Amino acid sequence: MVKSTPLRPVRGGERLAVLLPGMGAVATTAIAGVEAVKRQLAKPIGSLTQLGHLRDEEGRPGARLADALPLASLDDLVFGGWDPIPDDAYQAARRAGVIDARLLEPIRPALEAVRPMPAVFDPAWVRRLDGPNVKRGSLRARAEALRADMAGFLERNRCGRGVVVWTGSTEVYALPGPAHQSLKSFEAALDRDDPTIAPSMVYAWAALKSRLPFLNGAPNLSADVPALRELADREGVPTGGKDFKTGQTLMKTTIAPMLSARLLGLEGWFSTNILGNRDGQVLDDEDAFRTKEVSKLGVLDEILDAGRHPELYGEVEHKVTIHYYPPRGDNKEGWDAIDIFGWLGYPMQIKVNFQCRDSILAAPLVLDLALLTDLAQRAGEKGPLEWLSFFFKSPVTAPGRAAVHDLFAQQTILHRQLARYARGASAAAESAVG
Ligand SMILES: NC(=O)c1ccc[n+]([C@@H]2O[C@H](COP(=O)([O-])OP(=O)(O)OC[C@H]3O[C@@H](n4cnc5c(N)ncnc54)[C@H](O)[C@@H]3O)[C@@H](O)[C@H]2O)c1
Repeated sequence: MVKSTPLRPVRGGERLAVLLPGMGAVATTAIAGVEAVKRQLAKPIGSLTQLGHLRDEEGRPGARLADALPLASLDDLVFGGWDPIPDDAYQAARRAGVIDARLLEPIRPALEAVRPMPAVFDPAWVRRLDGPNVKRGSLRARAEALRADMAGFLERNRCGRGVVVWTGSTEVYALPGPAHQSLKSFEAALDRDDPTIAPSMVYAWAALKSRLPFLNGAPNLSADVPALRELADREGVPTGGKDFKTGQTLMKTTIAPMLSARLLGLEGWFSTNILGNRDGQVLDDEDAFRTKEVSKLGVLDEILDAGRHPELYGEVEHKVTIHYYPPRGDNKEGWDAIDIFGWLGYPMQIKVNFQCRDSILAAPLVLDLALLTDLAQRAGEKGPLEWLSFFFKSPVTAPGRAAVHDLFAQQTILHRQLARYARGASAAAESAVG
């Protein structure tokens, strides 16, 4: 029997701040999408919270999530964010070129009202971009300024709750170092302007200190270091990440479980992409690409258990590349050439050509993650929300716990948690009536 999880009820008129460090293609596609859906100009395709149903342990669909769970309504969301580029959300959406002008014009005033606050930005961490809308001063002063931004935003917009989702660029590759080992060493590093503290970590620190959940849509380390895990635990705040699972990895974590389930062997998996948006430009820097590459490469090892099946998965050649190709804009094209083998070792090939729209796939995840993490916060959860792995390429787990990558295993884990929340919500409703 599924346990229930009680949820703190939402006070009438209380709004939810969705704060986005990085207001580029993904962020503005999410904001514009919510504004369009609110006005019934478009449908929230791809959003679990808006279209999904609960599922039982056997996978049978039940009530609509929106009916079974006390999710924040779209009308109660208030978007804000930071970006070194001062464009408001309308200008940024036009520049990103994901949503066409016909759909943007009716929501233009709502988008123009979303102006990025000055960013904590360092071109050493994102080398292909720069912009004037930045905070100045010591790292500690800029970190404190972010906390003041968060508190001020919530107060100005009458938000009782908030969630921070990193939709900023992918930073250069980094491993946890001495400054990241404890909260004390992290805060001492802030005080001495330590160059190993990445801007995304400063946002994570400011969010957690402000008791706002922090989710990471990029593969950066950000909150995934011992110091910030300690802070999340101390403040009792949920975290999640890393790297939205959208195009090629979504396909990979769908196909690989099929190979594993049917005990088909894998010799090699060659994945390549062409991408022409600003994200592609940033990933053209090989140190930023390394961060992404590590995130993309990790998924096969866990799904295909080479330890148990060395004869099937003992020597897999796995390659991933991304090429910046401006004519393609946000419409990423991914190719997968998959070399498999079957009965008696006979070789076969699978070819996938996914002509996707990167931000169209990522935008609903921003919305779902904000709404579901808000539920988790109201349920008193803290630390990495492993049940949100479904949405991420590199799911963050509690120390010592392996990540689950198989999309269907992730879906089962997610729905088990949603069922707990639904039971908690219905128990609360019954006791209110009784
Ligand atoms: N679109 C997808 O399918 C997808 C999937 C997985 C991950 N991601 C990741 O999501 C992120 C956003 O992607 P995008 O396509 O919107 O990129 P984008 O380049 O359009 O937007 C990123 C924005 O972040 C800003 N930025 C960089 N550093 C910042 C900082 N320190 N503070 C505030 N803003 C900062 C940039 O100026 C830019 O406007 C990227 O890291 C990308 O790798 C995207």
